[in-house]
Amino acid sequence: MPTDVILIAAVTVDGFIARHSREVTAWSKDLHLFKKQTIGFPVIMGSNTYETLNHQLDGRDMIVVRRDDAPESVLSKLAAERCFIIGGGKTYSRFAPFLTHLYITPHPFVFGAGVRLFTDPITELSLRFETMIAVDEIAGIYQYQYKVQE
Ligand SMILES: NC(=O)c1ccc[n+]([C@@H]2O[C@H](COP(=O)([O-])OP(=O)(O)OC[C@H]3O[C@@H](n4cnc5c(N)ncnc54)[C@H](OP(=O)(O)O)[C@@H]3O)[C@@H](O)[C@H]2O)c1
Repeated sequence: MPTDVILIAAVTVDGFIARHSREVTAWSKDLHLFKKQTIGFPVIMGSNTYETLNHQLDGRDMIVVRRDDAPESVLSKLAAERCFIIGGGKTYSRFAPFLTHLYITPHPFVFGAGVRLFTDPITELSLRFETMIAVDEIAGIYQYQYKVQE
């Protein structure tokens, strides 16, 4: 089991990660940061998200989870010290009990409807702010990094 299990997501101001479950996330501005942070580590995603990717994520073990895969057993097979949960909303929800960090990049959009960060109810998480990284200062886009409190 990795020490760090990190949710990484681009979100709208109203808390959505996509307009619908097959949408390609072409609106996010933090792809370069995502690539830099995840390179060399396993990335875990749901099957819907996998189908929206039009390329492999080179240099990362891509783990596509299905409904029959228990999150704890997926994580327990990993030898890496950190892994990233890269979406979508269903997968973020299923891995929520195991998260140690959230890396969230709010974007200046309001979708009004779509796929929420957590599509399913989860237990409340208590977060402590760690740092923020500029993605696009002119557009006011920053990644916020939080540690999940025990
Ligand atoms: N903004 C961002 O940062 C970001 C990041 C990632 C993804 N996204 C977007 O998120 C969207 C996809 O999110 P999503 O929530 O629809 O899908 P998802 O989490 O990518 O995939 C759905 C997952 O839920 C499982 N599942 C389906 N029904 C279930 C059930 N009844 N019980 C347990 N598990 C079940 C699926 O397994 P099966 O394969 O067995 O059905 C699959 O593993 C896409 O539009 C993508 O572009 C955005």
